[in-house]
Amino acid sequence: MNVAVIGTGYVGLVAGGCFADSGNDVICVDRDAAKIRRLSEGRVTIYEPGLPELIDRNLRERRLSFTTDLAAAVRASSVLFIAVGTPQTGGEPDLSQVASVARGMAPAIDAYKVVVMKSTVPVGTTERMGDLIRAGAPGPIDMVSNPEFLREGAAIEDFTKPDRVIIGAGSERAAAIVGELHAPFVRKGSPVFVTDIRTAEMTKYASNAFLATKISFMNELANLCERAGADVDRVRQGMGLDARIGPSFLYPGVGFGGSCLPKDVEAMIAAGRRHGYPMRIVEAVHAVNADQPGLFLGKVRDHFGGALEGRRIAVWGLAFKPRTDDMREAPSVEIVNGLLEAGAAVTACDPEAMGAARAIFGSRIELEADSYACLAGADALLVVTEWPDFRNPDFERMKTDMRSPVIFDGRNIYSPDDMRSLGFTYYGVGRR
Ligand SMILES: NC(=O)c1ccc[n+]([C@@H]2O[C@H](COP(=O)([O-])OP(=O)(O)OC[C@H]3O[C@@H](n4cnc5c(N)ncnc54)[C@H](O)[C@@H]3O)[C@@H](O)[C@H]2O)c1
Repeated sequence: MNVAVIGTGYVGLVAGGCFADSGNDVICVDRDAAKIRRLSEGRVTIYEPGLPELIDRNLRERRLSFTTDLAAAVRASSVLFIAVGTPQTGGEPDLSQVASVARGMAPAIDAYKVVVMKSTVPVGTTERMGDLIRAGAPGPIDMVSNPEFLREGAAIEDFTKPDRVIIGAGSERAAAIVGELHAPFVRKGSPVFVTDIRTAEMTKYASNAFLATKISFMNELANLCERAGADVDRVRQGMGLDARIGPSFLYPGVGFGGSCLPKDVEAMIAAGRRHGYPMRIVEAVHAVNADQPGLFLGKVRDHFGGALEGRRIAVWGLAFKPRTDDMREAPSVEIVNGLLEAGAAVTACDPEAMGAARAIFGSRIELEADSYACLAGADALLVVTEWPDFRNPDFERMKTDMRSPVIFDGRNIYSPDDMRSLGFTYYGVGRR
């Protein structure tokens, strides 16, 4: 099939690469000319395991190309994926990128095409964008909502081996075309779930809001465990053994971040208010999450008797989660800013997010490529992102490098007992 993917961010680039790898001719479009130039030379602009090899292979085999020319890509393709950003605005997401693509593609639609909304958009948006395109398009279109569930850091695996593919379509013809494109990825029997457009759009928000609910529930439980003298990690294991609950996504920490959960939770809250039905659970999920980095910072402040002035704090992990360079809405940003505001000096490291961190913090913090160098003279270490690199460090070396052996483990990756027997003062989240 001839496919155009518009937007070459985390989703568009992965989708374009995977569709090309399964034998389609794919043109990826972006308005960012510098990005397109780099991608055309096979230089991948984001950190995502396996993506450089995938892009390189398909560029060489000429199934994949990159352009800024939206009209040419639309004319050459029969299926058009919209995968541009829908960023957070503190309520309803900003749909200007989506609308600009819809308006831009319309005049080039010279024959029947399927327009697939892959960006996460509020219920009703895909139909509205369809109206916008039809108003300017000489040829007919069908709209499809095909929300994306990939996780950064495991994006190719998730895209090519999805738990399910959701196709919200207004016509059987369009649903069949999008289903055929996904057929290579569901050979092992993952369901292709076909429904109407609005239900598909809502399914994406419902999934993310539910995942966020699990995290905020566990964070709230962890905060109660700390006060009641229980160990949330053991509670988590005990709960997870119930088949109705299951073990996944029950990890407390410093709060969820990233480009999806916070934005999608806020969008659902806004949609509830817009429809006159406030989403009380989701509002609480958002409120609990907003408090979590501050509660973590409070532990650090309390340990130092309320004064962080002149303290040197090391931070391990800045990306919003492991295996990505993405720092959008990362809890590390609020934590580091809180430390700086309280007068501490911060030295931080992250295996992949150093560039993003430099752009956010500039020279306000020191960045060290080496995680041990980061600890030199530190009064405490804060573990903010649970990269595998941080799980089994040389604790004896850490003790010699640090001024005082204090660890605030924002992801509960170390054992409190081990830490104490190694001579560390240890604070986890929700643990005795
Ligand atoms: N990142 C994820 O893990 C993830 C997962 C599932 C769903 N989503 C959703 O997918 C969508 C895309 O997310 P992302 O993280 O890939 O975004 P992103 O911000 O990384 O990438 C968006 C890209 O679109 C380009 N763009 C913007 N306007 C354009 C235009 N008019 N024409 C051409 N290109 C344009 C930008 O230059 C950028 O390269 C969002 O709606 C997001 O909520 C993201």
